[in-house]
Amino acid sequence: MASNGLLQVKPYRTDKLKIMSQTESQILVIFGASGDLTKRKLIPALYELYLRNFLPQKFAVLGVSRTNLSDEDFRDKMTEFLPSAEEQKAQVNDFLDKLYYQPLATDDAYDYPILRDRLTTLAKQNTIAENFIFYLSTPPKLYDVIPANLASVDLNQTADGFRRLIIEKPFGTDLESAKRLNKKLLDYFEEEQIYRIDHYLGKESVQNMLVTRFANGIFEPIWNHNFIERVEITSAEALGVEERGGYYDNSGAMRDMVQNHLMQMVGMVAMEPPVVIEADAIRNEVLKVFQSLRPISEEDVVNNVIRGQYIESHIKGEAVKGYRDEKGVNPESRTETFFAMKFFIDNWRWSGVPFYIRTGKKLPTRVTEVVIHFKKTPHHLFGNLADDQHSHNQLVIRIQPDEGILLKFGMKVPGAGFNVQTVNMDFHYDELRNVHLPAAYERLLLDCMQGDATLYSRGDAVVKAWEFVQPILNAWANNPEIPVYGYPAGTWGPDVADQLIENGTWRYPCKNLSNDGNYCEL
Ligand code: BG6
Repeated sequence: MASNGLLQVKPYRTDKLKIMSQTESQILVIFGASGDLTKRKLIPALYELYLRNFLPQKFAVLGVSRTNLSDEDFRDKMTEFLPSAEEQKAQVNDFLDKLYYQPLATDDAYDYPILRDRLTTLAKQNTIAENFIFYLSTPPKLYDVIPANLASVDLNQTADGFRRLIIEKPFGTDLESAKRLNKKLLDYFEEEQIYRIDHYLGKESVQNMLVTRFANGIFEPIWNHNFIERVEITSAEALGVEERGGYYDNSGAMRDMVQNHLMQMVGMVAMEPPVVIEADAIRNEVLKVFQSLRPISEEDVVNNVIRGQYIESHIKGEAVKGYRDEKGVNPESRTETFFAMKFFIDNWRWSGVPFYIRTGKKLPTRVTEVVIHFKKTPHHLFGNLADDQHSHNQLVIRIQPDEGILLKFGMKVPGAGFNVQTVNMDFHYDELRNVHLPAAYERLLLDCMQGDATLYSRGDAVVKAWEFVQPILNAWANNPEIPVYGYPAGTWGPDVADQLIENGTWRYPCKNLSNDGNYCEL
């Protein structure tokens, strides 16, 4: 027990030490190496792993893309998102020495012998075993081309070492394209070799949902329709589409956030306990949740789904443009930047419990959280418990920022009478000082290097999630009468989203986990 009364959680570092030795020597090949993701997320995540001694002794990264760069040029480019402090210089340089680059026409099978030869040479020169991970950080149209081209030079064959494929989202743009992509990948790679990344699963606090539920005797017995009134998941962003207008306008909140990140969180909240903590056991349970989602018909969409788009407004006195004025966006666009939905999971545990999810850009603050609203007490003894906020307990699982857990419950106001006030019991991850919270990509890359697919989405679950949301896409395509509600940038989305919840309102979270409502720091 620590001096603050909190149980000490075993730090990540010690936990992982025993696994470290299992990380075999290998080469990570990043396709799309001149893109943003590589320098913003992948290289910094790899550097963190390097600093913490999680990279295998023999390890190299081979950046691949069309741009003509030398190894040195590539190393120079990658320094932008690495620490510049003098005291880290030696480590940064040592890390950079592990980076190599190969220009390649990635869509052209004739270029792939060059890649194969380069990998063989790199492996020999650095005495690295021929274990290769291929990370596809490319435009999605290459997701089936690159695996086919790798197969054309046997780089999918596992006789000399492992071959793994990491695929970034979007995994398809609708049900049919997702099925097609799955099928094509399986022509060249086995399911066990395919790692579909959903960076939400890499977030420490998403994984902690499993621990909260299954390592505590007090939560799981009440985690069902007998005690829970509704479940709410919010993933709000204060940013707009920034420089990604072109991509986003063809995607929208549904494809960008709901089909993947939000559905994966639903899986974690709603799943049954897995038999063991192991990739397929966990992923089977997630799949069962998706199989139990009550299908929504096209006709139901208008009553259960709200879409919105941010319009110009003022935030903190500054004029902010509307979505249609963003770079790369069609000025008549009907793409949703806000999405809210009510649905049910038809199984024993969740019978009759509504789930509400919402996500949006240009909302008041950046916050992702799950709120479990418990049922009210069966009989009201105390007078002032009429309103929704105060009459039932809530458990808030904060994914970001201020990661933690908060339980809201009623306490007597000191003094005369029996007035009840809601109070908070909260745990914030930042209280665990000296514990490194790994970034999502750090955790996920290490897992793939160690062959652990637990936190990667499996093909059947991705398809099931698409199956669930497809009627919504169809309804929007077939029925342009379904409104796209405007909401001023910097607000919580269209007012009508409030009406989705019959017996209450959404929680309006603030930057700090313990606060909510209209008056807080955002
Ligand atoms: C990405 C989406 O997958 O997730 C982005 O494409 C979104 O539009 C991002 O901003 C949100 O991730 P995070 O980790 O910042 O919540």
